[in-house]
Amino acid sequence: MIDELTVLRRTCIGSVREFVTMASLGVNIDHIANVRQARRTVEPDPVPMALLAELGGADGITVHLREDRRHIQDRDVELLRQTVRSRLNLEMAATEEMLAIALRLKPDMVTLVPERRQEVTTEGGLDVAAQAKDFSDLVRRLQDSDIPVSLFVDPDRRQLQACQSSGARWVELHTGAYAEASWTDQPQELARLIEAAAIARQLGLRVNAGHGLTYQNVEPVAAIPGMEELNIGHTIVARALAIGLQQAVREMKVLIQNPRLDPLFGQQPG
Ligand code: PXP
Repeated sequence: MIDELTVLRRTCIGSVREFVTMASLGVNIDHIANVRQARRTVEPDPVPMALLAELGGADGITVHLREDRRHIQDRDVELLRQTVRSRLNLEMAATEEMLAIALRLKPDMVTLVPERRQEVTTEGGLDVAAQAKDFSDLVRRLQDSDIPVSLFVDPDRRQLQACQSSGARWVELHTGAYAEASWTDQPQELARLIEAAAIARQLGLRVNAGHGLTYQNVEPVAAIPGMEELNIGHTIVARALAIGLQQAVREMKVLIQNPRLDPLFGQQPG
């Protein structure tokens, strides 16, 4: 049952969309690498999967090269740099090691994110305000090499002002609080994102957003005026499993029930 609020929201989004540029989609493929690394094997390989994401309409491919290399590996980023035909967005911690990699590979964008070894995923936004000098320095070094920089921050005025002072031209608003909020708190979290996007634009910053977005909660965020790109990973990979598993099992069943008697596959018993 669609309630009145949902109808109203969809109508508003429909009419707002007429006046705003549609947000593009950056597909985060870290979770594909997570499955590979669970076995330390070669499949699934995020590199060809990026091509499939592009065929599906991805406007960009996002990967997070973590310091502990828990999912995406250096080899993945190197190959993606050569094969991605849309845009490669490299998420990374603000460290000298990562800076050197970015300067060498020159992704289409670097998104600086906070990183803690113990966390399951990126937990909060950067505290740009507390480390203004470090961020300005890093942003300058990347932008001097023509690499646009985005800073992943909570929807907070002070952080956005610090982002502007750092010289960065982009921010990615952390949508985690909105995504995790209860049904009753979600409108308030959405209002924070809308306000933050407006503040960022007043400050001359371009606005992306991401983290925790799903098929159920993405639409109001996509409709925020000025929203340029949404970076989405987990829910897309989860959905890919859901819609692909039946076919994958079917293909295995065919092999088991009709094994090829090819010499390459060895002698058949008996
Ligand atoms: N944006 C940033 C900065 C992230 O760190 C992540 C998670 O790696 C995402 C977007 C995508 O989040 P999710 O996998 O929850 O869609």
